[in-house]
Amino acid sequence: MEIQLWRELLDPYQLAVDELIVKFNHIITEHRNRGLYSPIEFVDGRVKSIASILDKMKRKDVSMNDIEEKIEDIAGIRITCQFVEDIDRVVKIIKQRTDMKVKCEKDYVNHMKDSGYRSYHMIISYIVNTVEGEKELSAEIQIRTMAMNFWATIEHSLQYKYKENIPEYIQQKLIDASQAIVEIDQEMSDVRDEIMDAQNSHRKKENLVKDILNNIQNLYKVANKREVTKIQDEFYKVYMMDDMMQLKHFARQLDIISEGYRSQSLT
Ligand code: GTP
Ligand code: MG
Repeated sequence: MEIQLWRELLDPYQLAVDELIVKFNHIITEHRNRGLYSPIEFVDGRVKSIASILDKMKRKDVSMNDIEEKIEDIAGIRITCQFVEDIDRVVKIIKQRTDMKVKCEKDYVNHMKDSGYRSYHMIISYIVNTVEGEKELSAEIQIRTMAMNFWATIEHSLQYKYKENIPEYIQQKLIDASQAIVEIDQEMSDVRDEIMDAQNSHRKKENLVKDILNNIQNLYKVANKREVTKIQDEFYKVYMMDDMMQLKHFARQLDIISEGYRSQSLT
């Protein structure tokens, strides 16, 4: 197939990957803006390279005409979570969406592969709008914890080096390591509530400080400069106290002051 035709074939998949990354990142943002813990830590994605598509066609005996139907991971999204429990939450979120139709699921989290690989896989059907109109295509979503990702990344580079003939003793090491990963995930889950609490209060403080600074910046446009400088000095003092209650109190006072200026400027 000519390179130009490959490009036309792959373009919609690139669009799907770009859109899906934006959508999953937005799920992170929405959670954080509401001061909620996000089950997604980060997301990333890629369009399969032409070389990998050709390799897979050969390996699975797929003809040119069947590429789009038989190779379901041309568009690939990887969602990384902090805790095993988050994986289920992400799966639920995906199932509830109206813009992603789940075609197939593979739970390698509870059913580890012989290699030691763990991840939750979903094949979804997704619609993009291209210059030629609507197009429905498949995308693979892999959901895993950071620990699972660590293992898979290293194992993948070894597969690449040994071309699927990984020496026995290395394979055994990898299986042992995958068991250790199961234990790490378990131990992290045991302190999940503590970790989530810590991260949430950190985010809440960050959001509050962002609001305060925004408010102060806006005051510069309407209030007397000396007064704003005073408010700013007061903010530094409160901030240094490292007391969330004080900070919240300060934010509320500041809101009242800002509201006062706003109503003045309206009259
Ligand atoms: P392919 O493996 O893609 O040919 O298709 P499949 O039908 O076997 O699907 P499967 O769900 O087993 O694997 C899909 C993808 O998961 C692969 O392309 C890899 O990215 C990843 N994967 C599956 N097994 C392993 C593994 O043992 N090690 C690593 N590192 N990744 C794996
Ligand atoms: Mg496979």
